[in-house]
Amino acid sequence: MKKTRAVITGVQGWVPDYILTNRELETMVDTNDEWIVTRTGIKERRILKGEDKGTSIIGINAVNELLKKTNTNPKDIDLIICATVTPDMPFPATANIIADGVGAVNSYSFDISAACSGFLYALTIGSQFIETGMHKKVIIIGADKMSSIIDYQDRATCIIFGDGGGAVLLEPTTENVGVMDSLLHSDGSGAPYLHMKAGGSRKPATLETIAAREHYAFQEGASVFKFAVTNMAEVSAEIMERNNLTAEDISWLVPHQANKRIIDATANRMGIGPDKVMLNIEKYGNTTAGTLPLCLWDYESKLKKGDNVILAAFGGGFTWGSIYLKWGYDSK
Ligand code: UT7
Repeated sequence: MKKTRAVITGVQGWVPDYILTNRELETMVDTNDEWIVTRTGIKERRILKGEDKGTSIIGINAVNELLKKTNTNPKDIDLIICATVTPDMPFPATANIIADGVGAVNSYSFDISAACSGFLYALTIGSQFIETGMHKKVIIIGADKMSSIIDYQDRATCIIFGDGGGAVLLEPTTENVGVMDSLLHSDGSGAPYLHMKAGGSRKPATLETIAAREHYAFQEGASVFKFAVTNMAEVSAEIMERNNLTAEDISWLVPHQANKRIIDATANRMGIGPDKVMLNIEKYGNTTAGTLPLCLWDYESKLKKGDNVILAAFGGGFTWGSIYLKWGYDSK
């Protein structure tokens, strides 16, 4: 009997309209366009403005479009997983709110917290439910409203992050396409380098935590950078080796968009040229769990059935990993 795999049968991204440029950031903190572009590759990022709008708005918009383009009835969705570190509320799960918003009334849903690697974690989990035969249609979302936890007085973080995300539909296939392999890691000793100090059970919100600006993402950038370069490159090389893939076999690298220099180092380690690297950091910045589906969405028209694609990410936790998949369809 042929093995059942999970294959992506559609992808859709969504970003808010408001564009926060490097020029505007120059008016907010002591920075400049030249520094930001040279050190990160980012030119602009999107910001979700307006009262009462959380990450679920990104997910609902992406999933509604995804259902339309794949001609899928929301009632046929079995499971929705949302990877995010900026849930609408600590509970209920943002995935529950998204499921309700898109009319996925027969689905159950939950969130995954794995920061920038969240989409890889969620895609791996969702694939397992398809491979076992338990589910036929699973939606995986990676989305973050990073502007809700960014301190726009901290030039070390506010220049990097943006809002946005995307969703993919997973379905079963017995063809030789789909999610082939997944390699995930985490190391909680990395927490001091990238975290949010207050607002959790360890340090609930008080007037003091607000005054100390502890409800924002804290990052020791240079330390995270070193770990990211090493681990994202290593895990990508390892997944190639264990699947007997050479650089020539790879059609696309889909790297987490945190810093262009980390992306370049990963591509170099894999021996892959820039023409095979998906890159959109210049227009969206780092959308945390949103970067990988946003890349797949931007490059969807270039992807062909059977393409060997490597996804890779590194982020808060620390968490990192890589997925090897064979793309499942030619774009219409
Ligand atoms: O996605 C989740 C995982 N996160 C990442 O992967 C991010 C990894 N880290 C990074 O991408 C980089 O570390 C940053 C972009 C955050 C910072 O770049 P860097 O090259 O590591 O800069 P740095 O923190 O080592 O700072 C170098 C200098 C410092 O000045 P001095 O001390 O050399 O005088 C900073 O104060 O650059 C200064 N600096 C800035 N200057 C202008 C830091 N931020 C800025 C800024 N504008 N926005």
